[in-house]
Amino acid sequence: MASVKVLGIETSCDETSAAVVEDGVEIISNVVSSQIELHRPYGGVVPELASRNHLQLIDGVVKDALEKAGTSITEMDAIAATYGPGLASSLLIGLNTGKGIAFATGKPFIAINHIEAHLYSPVMTAVDALPMVSLIVSGGHTILVHATGMGRHEILGQTVDDAAGEAFDKVAKLLGLGYPGGPEIDNRAKQGHADAINFPRSMLDNASYNFSFSGLKTSVLYYLRKNPQPNIADVCASFQEAVVDILVGKAIRAALDTGVKTVSASGGVSINSRFRDKLAAECDRRGRRLLLVPPPLCTDNAAMIAALAFFKLQQGRGSDFALEVAPSIGLGVAA
Ligand code: KG4
Ligand code: ZN
Repeated sequence: MASVKVLGIETSCDETSAAVVEDGVEIISNVVSSQIELHRPYGGVVPELASRNHLQLIDGVVKDALEKAGTSITEMDAIAATYGPGLASSLLIGLNTGKGIAFATGKPFIAINHIEAHLYSPVMTAVDALPMVSLIVSGGHTILVHATGMGRHEILGQTVDDAAGEAFDKVAKLLGLGYPGGPEIDNRAKQGHADAINFPRSMLDNASYNFSFSGLKTSVLYYLRKNPQPNIADVCASFQEAVVDILVGKAIRAALDTGVKTVSASGGVSINSRFRDKLAAECDRRGRRLLLVPPPLCTDNAAMIAALAFFKLQQGRGSDFALEVAPSIGLGVAA
């Protein structure tokens, strides 16, 4: 049977990306143009800059993805693009590019929810990933999900305030470290002692699967006020350990409570080395299989958009050209 090729486009935040994926699992090309350097001087993403940059880059990135895959638009079976959540002005560029290509070529168009794409990204590396308990931990989201099939999932819990990645970025800022904060803290923590400072593990013993990180961030702020000459590596290691304990603790409890054998994680924070090590150790201890995607697929990328679109296409779920960007959409629930 001939393979099904999907061109995916992702521009929800500060990465301009296009990818060609075959049959939902085979990544033929995945071009990601990061704007980190552009936003670094501002300590965060500036929406107007992001949008203008997406507009300048998108045509070249799509062309590049097709060229690297050794294929052309005419060979594609469908075109997919992220429609939310994210920055409205950024989403607009990718969504309209996707719609435009699909309209001009008469191919099916599939609009993809960015969080759902992160959630199902482990399926790209293991077709038997489902059922799974999965953590989506990024700069914008911290969601614990029980997924039983493609597109069939229930949210077990989510953050009631800051996302885990947001906490990393904000604490890095308090410490005067660069942007984005996650990789900086991960690196510095390697030289520090995780038990040097006992930061709170908010809601860890709470019966719910919800998360809270703003109290932890405030604790770091108070610690720094009291200790104006801190050991930065110790603060990084101790803060990181608190975040990791909360994330791993809740994910493992969810796996035990639901009886699900596979645990996975996606999103930028799932690159964190301590998170990976501790989740692996706990999964091992509890007889769970751990599925982690390689770091380039943890952060924003179009491969995950094209991959999920393949399954939507199979389920006959094409999208209407009238569909608008949905900057604040959550992870839809379909159990
Ligand atoms: O998934 P992502 O690229 O974008 C969103 O959809 O938000 O995630 C970006 C987030 C940032 O907050 C960044 O600081 C965090 O992921 N991050 C990390 C690491 N690498 C990226 N956090 C902790 N440790 C890391 N190694
Ligand atoms: Zn993301």
